[in-house]
Amino acid sequence: MKKQKYIPWATPKLFGTELQHVKKALKSTWISGGKFIGIFENKLKKKFKIKNALLVNNGTSAIHASYVALGLKPGDKIIIPMYGYMAAANIAKMMGLTIIFADVELDTFCISLKTIKKVLEKNVKAIVVISTYGNMPNIEEISKFAKRKKIFLIEDSAESLGTKYKNKFSGTWGDIGTFSFHATKYITSGEGGAIVTKNNNFAEKISLFRNHGIRVKSYMHIIPGHNFRMSNILAAFGMAQFNNIEFIFKERLKLFRWYLKYLNKDKIIFQKILNETNFMPWTIGILIKSCKNDMKKRNKIILKLRKLGIETKYGFQKPDYFKVKKYKIAFKNSWILTNSVIALPFHLNLKEHQIKYICKCLDKIL
Ligand SMILES: Cc1ncc(COP(=O)(O)O)c(C=O)c1O
Repeated sequence: MKKQKYIPWATPKLFGTELQHVKKALKSTWISGGKFIGIFENKLKKKFKIKNALLVNNGTSAIHASYVALGLKPGDKIIIPMYGYMAAANIAKMMGLTIIFADVELDTFCISLKTIKKVLEKNVKAIVVISTYGNMPNIEEISKFAKRKKIFLIEDSAESLGTKYKNKFSGTWGDIGTFSFHATKYITSGEGGAIVTKNNNFAEKISLFRNHGIRVKSYMHIIPGHNFRMSNILAAFGMAQFNNIEFIFKERLKLFRWYLKYLNKDKIIFQKILNETNFMPWTIGILIKSCKNDMKKRNKIILKLRKLGIETKYGFQKPDYFKVKKYKIAFKNSWILTNSVIALPFHLNLKEHQIKYICKCLDKIL
């Protein structure tokens, strides 16, 4: 097969309007705070049909500020998926929370009410749902359960901006939802993040915490806070991206359809999308049938693809600093995904012939 130009796993799509908006922010000389922050937040509120949206400097800060807003304290128990990006677990560890990992479902790559119930203990304060690779679990039953048990629900929706369950956006089901605007995400501001919540008290706390705990008008420290502010320059950048959100959604679904068309389903398994989910893919995370529990084999496939000019990503791995007991038995599904998932290139600069080439190469290697 003729080798093609290098195909990166993710690249940002820039529309040109970013520079115009950034210039406006620069010209105004409002380069830290400024009006673009409020304008962007209002757009997020409108899109997600939610009372509060707050910009922060990245998706990890968004999670941190959420834990603080919920009043989580050292020793508090929090349920977090074993498979997924580890930002939610890292912050929990740094804050001294007691992490209870829950396995994920092998088909959706997400936690479910079943896997949550399996690890549930007394006095759990919060559950984090990570909507991995853009997929969502049955969030309705998880949120009903959490409400009934008086457990806070946080949605880490960094990888699922635009996905809906029963026509309601990822991030808006729980008490708080968080997003990332890193360069690989649906929209980007270079670095950035956002928090959405219907709860005004949580929003007020987040607003204080992201700004040193200061109430601006009185210049008084109300709580010990952090500096998680997004700058006006980056808000201008992110807002310009967000103005194209419907186009971005349309294009992502087009890319997804191409993958569905060209991938050989005899050799791979797609993430299962529940009937009630309107999936907005972040990446194409596939399970290689022949790699179940064979990480070496999967890694070889990744290297072979790289030699053919295709960058892919490994499935998420559990870091060693989480001393998880009986990992391979108690978290069997997470372990399988760690070994056998490959995330394929997915970004708006991809062309149909490149996706065809990626699928052809994969088919040949497998
Ligand atoms: C699920 C998830 N949560 C949180 C983050 C952290 O976001 P950020 O890099 O903006 O801090 C990421 C990715 O970066 C992510 O994929």
